[in-house]
This record gives sequence, C-alpha cells and structure tokens, in this order.
Amino acid sequence: MFQIVRKEILNPSIKLMEIEAPYVARKAEPGQFIILRVDEDGERIPLTIADFDRDKGTVTIIFQEVGKTTKLLGSLNEGESILDFVGPLGKPSHLDGVKSAAVIGGGLGTAIAYPQAKKLHSLGARVDSVIGFRNKDLIILEEEMSKVSNRLFVTTDDGSNGTKGFVTDILKRLLEEGNRYDVVIAIGPLVMMKAVSNLTREYGIKTIVSMNPVMIDGTGMCGGCRVTVGGNVKFACVDGPDFDGHQVDFDEAMRRQLMYRNEEKISLEEHECRLRGEKYA
Ligand SMILES: Cc1cc2nc3c(=O)[nH]c(=O)nc-3n(C[C@H](O)[C@H](O)[C@H](O)COP(=O)(O)OP(=O)(O)OC[C@H]3O[C@@H](n4cnc5c(N)ncnc54)[C@H](O)[C@@H]3O)c2cc1C
Ligand code: FES
Repeated sequence: MFQIVRKEILNPSIKLMEIEAPYVARKAEPGQFIILRVDEDGERIPLTIADFDRDKGTVTIIFQEVGKTTKLLGSLNEGESILDFVGPLGKPSHLDGVKSAAVIGGGLGTAIAYPQAKKLHSLGARVDSVIGFRNKDLIILEEEMSKVSNRLFVTTDDGSNGTKGFVTDILKRLLEEGNRYDVVIAIGPLVMMKAVSNLTREYGIKTIVSMNPVMIDGTGMCGGCRVTVGGNVKFACVDGPDFDGHQVDFDEAMRRQLMYRNEEKISLEEHECRLRGEKYA
C-alpha cells in the first residue's frame, strides 16, 4: 500500500498528493509517469510524476477530478493509502544541453510542465514560462513556476488575472520580439499543443509535446495509447509520452480521445449514484 502523506487542494477541481513510494522516487525523472489503482476494483489510470523527493522517498502527483477514478482518488485523505502505484513509466525528457527554453503549460498541463521547467532551471538553462488558465480561480503552481523560470507570463482566457488571451498569444509575441529558444516544451490540451507546434514550425524551433492518450497496461502490449508521429505508429507509454510536436498527428489524437466518452459518462454516473446510496438504473 502507498500512503498519502500530504494532500493539498490547489483549486476547486485540482488536487495535489504526496505519496510515500520510495522505489518510484529513487528512479523518477521529469517526463515520466506512474499508473495507479485506488483499490482492488479500481481502474488503472496514468498520472505524471509532478515532483519527487528521493531523500523522503515520496512522489507528488497533481490531478484534475474529471471522472470516476480521479474523483475517488480525490476523496482520499492524508494517512489513507492507494493500492497500486507503479512506475516510473515512460521515457524521461531529454533536457541535457538545452541552454534556453520556453515552457508552455495549459491548465492542468502546467503540473506536467513544472518538473521539466524545474530540471531545465537546475541545469542552468534560461527558462521563459507561459502558463494559461480559463480564469483566475483555476490558476495553479504560479509561485512554483516563477521560482524555476527567468520570466513567467500568466494568461487567463477572460483576463481575470495576468494577460487576457491564450498562451500562444504570449509565445507569438516573444518570438516576434526576437526571442529564440533551443526548445519549446508545450503541455496541455491537444488543441493548445497543436497551436503551439504550428506557431513554432514557422520559426523552425524544436517543439516537444506530452501526449496523454488513454492507457491501459502502460507497457506497450495493449496498443491502447497509440499515436501517429511522423507517419509511424508509436505507443505513448513506452515511446513517449514526449514527442516531436511537428510530427504528431493531432487531429487523429483528438478523434481517439473522444472514443470512450459514453462509457466514461456511464461509469461516473454509477459511481455518483453509489456515493449517494441510490440504485443506478
Ligand atoms: C501519460 C499520462 C499522464 C497523465 N498525467 C496526468 C496528470 O498528471 N494529472 C491529471 O489530472 N491527469 C493526467 N492524465 C490524464 C488522466 O490519466 C485521466 O484524467 C484519468 O485517467 C481520468 O480517469 P477518470 O476515471 O477520472 O475519468 P474518465 O471519465 O474515465 O475519463 C475522463 C477523460 O480522461 C482520459 N482518460 C480516461 N481513462 C484514461 C486512461 N486509462 N489513461 C489515460 N487517459 C484516460 C480520457 O481523455 C477521458 O475522456 C495523464 C494521462 C496520461 C496518458
Ligand atoms: S498503454 Fe498499452 S500499449 Fe501503451
């Protein structure tokens, strides 16, 4: 069992948990993820390793409550435990040798981008970070990102905090002003990663995106997480989740993301009925 040693509510739908998992903490690198199961009837879900502390033997996850499993996880408290916590999985991000980077986080993607910005900063790279949210109540990790960035820009869609607009508006401005980067790392909704990749393509700047297709086994066996990159089939769990944004077929990824919408809705409704003690029809 893996104990929750710290729980924080970052905003109404996003929670942070620090989990005691010494073997995962010992090997974890930015860009990697874990697969967890809350209890023995639970579904396996992948979550990014947002941070780790090798000395304490803990791994931090940050997750948005979007459906049955993330809501169940979010209902657990400090001192309670998770049944399975497997990792680190996936390939670590290749950040060595990068001297300047723009790190772009969209919404929850900021939690996935944070360990990459932190690592780049620790390697001495110049880091410009741009994080965007729908409104000020949804902003997460602003302080943490500012500590690992030379410059941090915050956007909100409605202008309730920071600059009104999208992360791509700021990135476009930075590029038009003549800023150049060895790499742009963009993590967030597919539509945002696609927009960033289209923008950086014009400037010939290498762009890394983090793909998050539905994963089942996380070992490259089931094929559930396949994405097309440069015309080839790749499995995000073992070949990624980081890929060259200029090579990813985002339109296909967006279609595949909608595939299980109906089943996910039914599963969440059943879970909520059970919580309320109602019979699910
Ligand atoms: C490599 C990777 C890293 C991720 N990191 C994070 C993270 O750090 N924080 C976070 O909040 N979310 C992360 N996700 C997404 C997270 O796995 C899903 O939000 C979660 O599985 C939803 O489960 P659910 O039962 O709560 O919701 P459901 O209602 O079952 O699904 C809601 C949506 O979540 C996605 N999803 C559902 N099941 C899976 C699955 N088995 N694998 C992947 N996606 C799924 C689908 O897009 C789906 O439409 C990551 C996904 C991947 C692939
Ligand atoms: S999750 Fe099964 S192949 Fe990647």
